[in-house]
Amino acid sequence: ADTSLGGFDHYLIKEIHEQPRVLRAIAENYAEPVRRLAAMIRESYGSFLIGCGTASYAALSGAYLFSRIARRHVNFAVGSEFKYQEHFLTERSLVIALSQSGETADIIEAVMAAKRAGARVAALVNVPGSTLDRLADFSIHLGAGPEQSVLSTKAYTAKVAILMLTAHVLNGSEHVGREHLWRAVDGVEQALAPASERRVQEIADRIADQEHCFVIGRGLSYPTALEAALKIKEVSYIHAEGFAGGELKHGVIALVEDGTPCIVFSPLDETRDDILSGAMEMRSRGGFIIGVSPEAEEVFDVHVPVAEVGDASPLVGVIPAQLLGYYLAVRRGLDPDKPRNLAKSVTVK
Ligand code: G6P
Repeated sequence: ADTSLGGFDHYLIKEIHEQPRVLRAIAENYAEPVRRLAAMIRESYGSFLIGCGTASYAALSGAYLFSRIARRHVNFAVGSEFKYQEHFLTERSLVIALSQSGETADIIEAVMAAKRAGARVAALVNVPGSTLDRLADFSIHLGAGPEQSVLSTKAYTAKVAILMLTAHVLNGSEHVGREHLWRAVDGVEQALAPASERRVQEIADRIADQEHCFVIGRGLSYPTALEAALKIKEVSYIHAEGFAGGELKHGVIALVEDGTPCIVFSPLDETRDDILSGAMEMRSRGGFIIGVSPEAEEVFDVHVPVAEVGDASPLVGVIPAQLLGYYLAVRRGLDPDKPRNLAKSVTVK
């Protein structure tokens, strides 16, 4: 047995379980770097959050968190698309680059372009000494420890936690941010408790033979829905797609058939009524509704309870999706740590 797995069967499930520890360390130790990042955002005129893959969804989550908590507009672009927005860069711009490895080619290229334009670069990066870390004017190290699984999990929640805290600093409500993060630490622990994990495993058993799976969320939960779908598709090869709840009627609803699994993120925020009516539309087309929510709603066929943690809802919501990806892969006889065709870090273009 591989001792570095610490009793787990795979790195993916081991790393999923490391998240409470990673988030706790951020809640305890990151006040100073977070204030500094907030100051850089305040001083800038035009900021861009960029990332690839899972890091792009953390970046999009950041854009929603800054908007909702701090009323601050931060642009978002996936790394490979940033070059088509480069003309917006000035000496007053700030590029906030998110990357687990710090080696993703599209991100490095974007950062080089930002530097050529005289813009400033902040990084949220997990690997100290990586190319991104060295290029950035200021880096926050995620402190998540090495990620061995190709799927990014603990680096994702670390980035979202740091951005949530930063948004609260910008809003002058640092203590609220910290309190929500502490609640999320407990919430993530609950989502990983044996009974919660078993519930997700049962759902995986039930939907493992499906070809398609749809995931919806609104507001803060929209990036979570995209990340949830990515987690499921990259490791189980089930075609999973995340959508903004409001887009259902613009096409997606045509794809829902009898028994199609539909994951619905329904935190107790301003999105609740609208997302539940979307769930109802899917259900009336035969969709099998898997509701991730603090409340057991009538429209759910299966309820995955998560803690109510205010603005930190993306942190607890994503956990069942990570577990679902893992258990779907196991159930389908696939290697959860090494999905076909994917590399841990994409250093070529
Ligand atoms: C690859 C990995 C993903 C990761 C992405 C960005 O596609 O398979 O898990 O999210 O690269 O990697 P980075 O190291 O920049 O976060």
